Amino acid sequence: MEQFVIRGGRRLRGQVSISGSKNSALPIMAACLLAEGPCKLYPVPSLADVDFLGELLGELGCQVSREGSNLLLQVKSESSSHARYDIVRKMRASICVLGPLLAKRKYARVALPGGCSIGSRPVDIHLRGLRALGARIKLDSGDIVADCDELIGAEVFLGGPFGSTVTGTANIMMAAALAKGTTLIECAACEPEVQDLAAFLNAMGARISGAGSPRVTIEGVKKLTGVDYRIIPDRIEAGTFMIAAAITNGEVKLENVRVDHMMAVVDKLREIGVIIEKNNGGVVVSSNRRIAATDVTTQPYPGFPTDLQAQLMALLCQANGNSILTEKIYPDRFLHVAELGRMGANIHKEGPTAIVTGVSELVGAPVMASDLRASAALVLAGMAASGTTVINRVYHIDRGYESIESKLAALGADILREDPYKNSGKLDPATIAAE
Ligand code: EPU
Repeated sequence: MEQFVIRGGRRLRGQVSISGSKNSALPIMAACLLAEGPCKLYPVPSLADVDFLGELLGELGCQVSREGSNLLLQVKSESSSHARYDIVRKMRASICVLGPLLAKRKYARVALPGGCSIGSRPVDIHLRGLRALGARIKLDSGDIVADCDELIGAEVFLGGPFGSTVTGTANIMMAAALAKGTTLIECAACEPEVQDLAAFLNAMGARISGAGSPRVTIEGVKKLTGVDYRIIPDRIEAGTFMIAAAITNGEVKLENVRVDHMMAVVDKLREIGVIIEKNNGGVVVSSNRRIAATDVTTQPYPGFPTDLQAQLMALLCQANGNSILTEKIYPDRFLHVAELGRMGANIHKEGPTAIVTGVSELVGAPVMASDLRASAALVLAGMAASGTTVINRVYHIDRGYESIESKLAALGADILREDPYKNSGKLDPATIAAE
């Protein structure tokens, strides 16, 4: 299995272009199942998750091909509506095909996503919403089996114990786009990725208003056409690079970035002493001193995103004082705490809260990536640490960060991807442990 070898202590300097948003691209790719005719999406990051969804869409009769950063998608056959567990278990966002399959083909069989390393991730609210539109839903052999004669617009409430649901809102919007009559979603997720999906559906001919607010109205239409569509920049990748600049006391200009999607992040980073300035369509992020400690609670958009909690924690490990991070979306999303501890961080976890006491130095160590954002936090910590950090299981990071090591290396980081067991004839202990 591949690993990253990072020699810390380099200040990052230069420019980096942020890729298209993973969490926009995935539901928008699924929405292509609704189109009569070809769609072209760009820029779509080259990521394992995009490949997994491409593979699934292929099994569902949608031809997917890549030309550079363009993704071309066109439905060729509607004969299979079964999203098999073998693919769904690799990526939970596969659930995004449920709404489109049901709306377009009146039938969907989608394996129920199982557990996940960041915590329990149910899809009950998705199912509640689709039932409100008239779908009949049952569970059979671990699959969600949904069918309908036709979907009928309805009032749908999408609130749950941790707020709304991003992919649940996507599923209901996609299903309602072809339903008969008007759907009102109350307590819709407000994330920019939901707004992006609504804009894509509207470009296809849907009639959706209010996306980006908690109340979204969808007037169903009879058909949706194929379109070319530009995906928004990835706000989580951008936030990760902002923190990379800060944690190395560097100066990095980010291009292709939507600062208006990142106000909570920018505000928090400025509060702790990171300098963030808009510059010629990009944004320059720099730091030249020890940052201050702070308190952060992750929240649904526009609050501070859970997808940057681990990376911010890496930064706060060397802050001046005690910081408190509270996770309100995924209370168990703290697998990075123990690994950061191996690098000398002083973190005490108490339920959904982590108390981080800043230390003067992180020290390189062998560590294990456990999920996408936790891996990013370890890369950040490795760049700030003295000595060498070896991060195992970097396939987690390839799910959501396009060419992260080349982007960081171009900014001056000393980071290498290696596969120490390739051609060695020895068994990879990480593979053995995984089995
Ligand atoms: N929830 C329920 N019932 C549901 C759905 C969600 O209780 O039916 C709960 C979840 O357990 C969680 C909260 O509601 O506590 C929010 O979950 P949500 O459904 O919004 O998450 P998601 O749509 O599965 C997306 C992103 C995640 C991101 C979350 C929260 C995609 C493909 N994934 O997941 O991204 O963390 O929203 O913002 O858009 C990542 O990129 O690393 C990642 C995990």
